[in-house]
Amino acid sequence: MKKNIIIAPSILAADFGHLSQEIQEVQAAGADWLHIDVMDGKFVPPITFGCNIVELARKNSKLFLDVHLMIEEPEKHIQAFQQAGSDRIIVHQETTSHLHRLLGSIKNLGISNGVALNPATSVESIFPVLDVCDLVLVMTVNPGWGGQTFIDSSLAKITALRAEIEARGLATTIEVDGGIDDQTAGACVAAGANALVSGTYIFKDKKNSIKRLRQAS
Ligand code: DX5
Ligand code: ZN
Repeated sequence: MKKNIIIAPSILAADFGHLSQEIQEVQAAGADWLHIDVMDGKFVPPITFGCNIVELARKNSKLFLDVHLMIEEPEKHIQAFQQAGSDRIIVHQETTSHLHRLLGSIKNLGISNGVALNPATSVESIFPVLDVCDLVLVMTVNPGWGGQTFIDSSLAKITALRAEIEARGLATTIEVDGGIDDQTAGACVAAGANALVSGTYIFKDKKNSIKRLRQAS
């Protein structure tokens, strides 16, 4: 049976001159979620945007808004991002000393949570809090830019995480992000991922790429 894989276009690769239209086009092409990459110029070198773009996405689409915070001190900003319309807030394990508490605070805002792991962070480091994670985002590139090359060693992390989730009978989603295209998606899904973020590949050909990603997975 074909697996039910979530496809989440990253708007980082969209044309920001026509952002509402770009969002509507990926929605029409069959996207499940919209992935929104917030960068602060500190945790990662570039600065992208803040709550205003989440608000714009909320106004222009019915898609589930998957908000990836690549920012220091995420505790200070989760409420504003929830109020802007986020359906999920993903924080980086590397940005907080109190991950368990932060994941609870996100849930207390009435939305889903997620934890992202840099390529150099082991999946085992989140096993103690896995039972309170709705989603784990295994970064398949170093965060900061779109259009980078997929890091193959991520696959072993996905496999280990899937085994742990199955062993505990959890429903945690495994999402991958970075360098996902019709060449890399299949291996990620085979290793146990069930949500695919993709920017460059999807926005190059919005009409056909989502279909191709589904076929490849
Ligand atoms: C990277 C971001 C990604 C990025 C993916 O820091 O978290 O979401 O937009 O872009 P592609 O699919 O182009 O690698
Ligand atoms: Zn992302």
